[in-house]
Amino acid sequence: MAASIFLSSSLLKPPMETLTLISLPFRRNLSSLRRPSPLRRTPNPNFPYSSRIQASAHPFPVAASEEALMGFITGKRRATEVAHSVWKSIIQKGDTVIDATCGNGHDTLALLKLVGDESGRGCVYGMDIQKSALESTSSLLEISVDSSEKKMVKLFSLCHSKMEDVVPRDTLVRLVAFNLGYLPGGDKAVITRSPTTLLALEASSRILIAGGLISLVVYVGHPGGRDELVAIQSFAASLPMESWISCKFEVLNRPACPVLIFLYRR
Ligand SMILES: C[S@@+](CC[C@H](N)C(=O)[O-])C[C@H]1O[C@@H](n2cnc3c(N)ncnc32)[C@H](O)[C@@H]1O
Repeated sequence: MAASIFLSSSLLKPPMETLTLISLPFRRNLSSLRRPSPLRRTPNPNFPYSSRIQASAHPFPVAASEEALMGFITGKRRATEVAHSVWKSIIQKGDTVIDATCGNGHDTLALLKLVGDESGRGCVYGMDIQKSALESTSSLLEISVDSSEKKMVKLFSLCHSKMEDVVPRDTLVRLVAFNLGYLPGGDKAVITRSPTTLLALEASSRILIAGGLISLVVYVGHPGGRDELVAIQSFAASLPMESWISCKFEVLNRPACPVLIFLYRR
């Protein structure tokens, strides 16, 4: 049975055999998307789904986040669980979000459950540079969700630094999730790297709406992980405080524990 998950490979690569390329009409005008103005996704005041009004009207339900944060503090919850609980407070049904590192698909699935509504609104753009990761993600979705939910996921074999090549211009993105490092169960030599991670963060900061979040789980136990964290922290600290809040959660006496970073666009 052909999978109905929307999938495309990077611009020059052929589509993966195991998944079906459905359509990407917006790619016809890719040249116009390549060099976005930093202002091109500025929320339109006439568009009800964006703007500060949307952000401030958001009730931010926090019960799950509180429970997860207490779990993290008391050593009972993992960093990814805290991230997922924070997403619950930020994401609304019908939102568009990005999984910048699909890996085995756990985050893609969690995001899909948060954005999808019964009328088919909601969209998850997922990307990874490894074919095996996208296959894993696709398989997880196959067994976890129904066909109407799968249609809300678009998977791309793509470096996350190129996310603006596949997310259509004027899309209002609520959340971009990064779960960095290597693919669990995969090749540990294929890891996220600071230069492309930083480009992806810059792209994310351009496409995120007010009231949106960039969420990072940063693994520091592998070679290069600590340097990547330093680079991300430097990016996070440089964001203007009028429009961004940059936070970090770290277990200080367990230096190999993943570090959580949240960049909230006010
Ligand atoms: C820790 S895993 C992600 C775990 C995943 N989110 C999950 O829920 O299972 C990190 C993933 O990032 C991917 N990756 C590495 N560099 C990348 C890049 N430049 N762009 C997109 N993905 C990348 C790796 O292939 C790997 O699958």
